[in-house]
Amino acid sequence: MDAAPPFSTADKATEKAPMDALVIQGGRRLSGRVAISGAKNAALPVMAATLLAPGVHKLRNVPDLRDTRTFAAVLGKLGARVSFQADLCTIDTSNVDSVEAPYELVKTMRASIYVLGPLLARLGAARVSLPGGCAWGPRPVNLHLTGLAAMGAGLEIEHGYIVGRDVKLHGAQFSFDVVSVGATAQLMMAAVLAEGTTTLDNVAIEPDITALGEVLVQCGARISGLGSRRLVIHGVRELKPIDTAIIPDRIEAATLAAAAVMTGGDITLERVIPDHFEASLRKLEEAGATITRERDEVSISGRGRPEAVDVTTQVFPGFPTDMQAQMMAVAAIARGTSVIEDTIYLDRFSHVPELQRLGANIELKGNVAVVKGVEKLSGAPVMATDLRASAALALGALVAEGETRISRIYHLDRGYERFDHKLTQLGARVERVQE
Ligand code: UD1
Repeated sequence: MDAAPPFSTADKATEKAPMDALVIQGGRRLSGRVAISGAKNAALPVMAATLLAPGVHKLRNVPDLRDTRTFAAVLGKLGARVSFQADLCTIDTSNVDSVEAPYELVKTMRASIYVLGPLLARLGAARVSLPGGCAWGPRPVNLHLTGLAAMGAGLEIEHGYIVGRDVKLHGAQFSFDVVSVGATAQLMMAAVLAEGTTTLDNVAIEPDITALGEVLVQCGARISGLGSRRLVIHGVRELKPIDTAIIPDRIEAATLAAAAVMTGGDITLERVIPDHFEASLRKLEEAGATITRERDEVSISGRGRPEAVDVTTQVFPGFPTDMQAQMMAVAAIARGTSVIEDTIYLDRFSHVPELQRLGANIELKGNVAVVKGVEKLSGAPVMATDLRASAALALGALVAEGETRISRIYHLDRGYERFDHKLTQLGARVERVQE
């Protein structure tokens, strides 16, 4: 990340992003090296965890994204002081004196709900807006609420807010009936300061969860079972402030790997943890790519048109829902027919009509898309509808004949740091324009 002047939550974090569009001329092979940024989905829970310990926390390798800035604004509303200098995020939680995460912020970023557990654990109270639905249908938070209730938090829904007062968390046994990344992180953060022992079963084991657990342990939490489906957490009285580096973004890495395969390119991803996106790499190998994994680098070479691949999204270590849209872009130009099923979010297909505008042949039935690969996509104006959908459109645009204009690119900016610059660095013709 370029060195940038520091900013605080008072200025940049809440500024309105302009309505930018990306204009991409298709047809360039990608080649070269690119460093992967810190992971959004790992950074947000760690930012929330800073609420657990009063003091000055230092988070490195934090990506400069709309979502990390929004989270900084949420922490700012609670009384924390947040500043960014390049990829170092410093959060002073000494004077957290408010327990309210307002609707205006939560509605723009569901992950704001991560402050709920830490607020209840540290201050015994919280008033956090319910996030509501999202672009791909309802995304419930019932597991967050029933898990916290099992730990003694009597929570009410009042005027659209989740409200807890005079809460004293205690240890509990809780088994998730669905594996949930968000609810696992939430209950871990609540349990580390709860009185007694909490046992969580059927937890998520996504790298973001394990990374959060490791950070909490470094700060004095007592957690065993990290990386397994059962966590046992012995509550402690207090935690030390966090000093850590955020893990690399496996979804950004896998997205760029897919771009290399689609363009018949040859790229090396630096600063990655290959195991974290092994499921995506295997699918790209199945599509015909040659992939070399080093300790913290991965090289990907594509040759001609990819082969069709079937994909079913699963919890980690399976194929991630966050790569489903991008894999559909690969399938759109593949030789043969691919079947793509999302079992995590059944409605997460807003990219389908937009990929169709580029000429993709996709038939959607429920949560299954049958994609008949076409030889060529053709550039067209399209609209980004959510974060990963916009990445899929960018991938399609890289191989489409002529120009593609992707509007509402703020969705992409929520989760991909300087994506247009990275593509340009790899030889793509990408321009950011104001709508
Ligand atoms: C999910 C992905 C995560 C991804 C994120 C954003 C999984 C397991 N999780 O995480 O990798 O980064 O989307 O795209 O792939 N659920 C409930 N009740 C709850 C919470 C969740 O029923 O209280 C259900 C959801 O509807 C979903 C499943 O559990 O079907 C997984 O949800 P969860 O992992 O919590 O979602 P995210 O944290 O958004």
